[in-house]
Amino acid sequence: MLKGKKVILGITGSIAAYKAVYLLRLLVKTGADVQVIITPAGRKFITPVTLSALSGKPVLSEFFANNDGTWHSHVDLGLWADIMIVAPASANTMGKMVNAICDNLLITTYLSAKCPVLVAPAMDLDMFAHPANQRNIELLRSFGAQIVEPGTGELASGLEGKGRMEDPEVIVQRAVDLLESQKKKSLTGKKVLVTAGPTYENIDPVRFIGNYSSGKMGFAIARTLADFGAEVYLVAGPVGLSISHPLIKRTDVVSALEMEAACREFFPLCDAAVFSAAVADYAPAAVANDKLKRTDAEMTIRLKPNPDIAEGLGAKKKENQVTVGFALETSNGEVNALRKIEKKNFDFIVLNSPNKAEEGFMTDTNRITIIHKDHKKESFPLKSKKDVAVDIVTALEKILLK
Ligand code: CTP
Repeated sequence: MLKGKKVILGITGSIAAYKAVYLLRLLVKTGADVQVIITPAGRKFITPVTLSALSGKPVLSEFFANNDGTWHSHVDLGLWADIMIVAPASANTMGKMVNAICDNLLITTYLSAKCPVLVAPAMDLDMFAHPANQRNIELLRSFGAQIVEPGTGELASGLEGKGRMEDPEVIVQRAVDLLESQKKKSLTGKKVLVTAGPTYENIDPVRFIGNYSSGKMGFAIARTLADFGAEVYLVAGPVGLSISHPLIKRTDVVSALEMEAACREFFPLCDAAVFSAAVADYAPAAVANDKLKRTDAEMTIRLKPNPDIAEGLGAKKKENQVTVGFALETSNGEVNALRKIEKKNFDFIVLNSPNKAEEGFMTDTNRITIIHKDHKKESFPLKSKKDVAVDIVTALEKILLK
């Protein structure tokens, strides 16, 4: 993800400095070349020995090397980096950053840096909320830095509130997103609706009809579209997945009717839609108010059909809107896929099968065939769902940019 990227990791005086060790480890693991710069206050919380062992480089802190007087050039460092991450960022350091108070190497490097800057504040809740600190954060934003908002929870002071440095995994993902967003984006300005995951149709207050869709394919498509620069409306059924990207607006739904309502709202705003959700075709005709009791008699649940979201929107689609469907077929794949293109007015359909262990629901891999409305076919080998998402988005990109 960050392979070959040059990262300056700035560590300041905060209890959360211990989390910077894990952050450094993650950055190195993802292939980044990391130079740590620690402030004098940061050194009170964490030793340079640990940091230099993990980064494989001396940790910089002073303007001059102790014994030979060699100068550590903040200008060179600022030009070297692809990204600068300040985590944890104390109130003191952020105050110095916005006021150009250059009494340590981290601040001088920040002022010389030409790369994107990510700042992850960490402090006590009252310090964080103080108008002086909030003003500094706003100033940092106005200077172009991205802020990784701290989380809410138990703080080192024993108090509860907003001020915990965000988890290292989230900071790494934000760094990846920030670098991605710097690249030229072919789908910038395009808006795309993506449905993902299963829907659950309630039987009674504690039971539902659902399916094994994990939502992984739809989430990978949403992320890839955002990586290509598109603004994404992700409508997700009940899935255990998280996603964080500034271009992704996520709406969580449970039932097919809720998914349909969200899609009807967003589709008119969009240039394209990818319907990857496994929408339940039927829902119980009536939902019991109380939990159904077990008896020894056979039980029948009457089902009524759910709306077909893709078909409904496909019927209304405008000349310049593009729609993409999925067909998960156990037999007669191509015939069924072509029928669905016709019926739901898709520009192309992604055909896959749940017959093999490594394909379809719940897996991390998939093998797909893309069938276009003019019946042209492209078959792809087994790939990770992330790579499959790139194939699907690339096919969509070709139509959108035609
Ligand atoms: N779809 C939808 N709303 C539904 C059912 C399906 O939007 N109520 C969409 C799916 O997201 C997918 C496509 O339609 O993109 C085909 O879904 P699939 O379940 O394969 O097709 P069905 O039309 O339900 O046909 P069947 O289950 O009989 O194969």
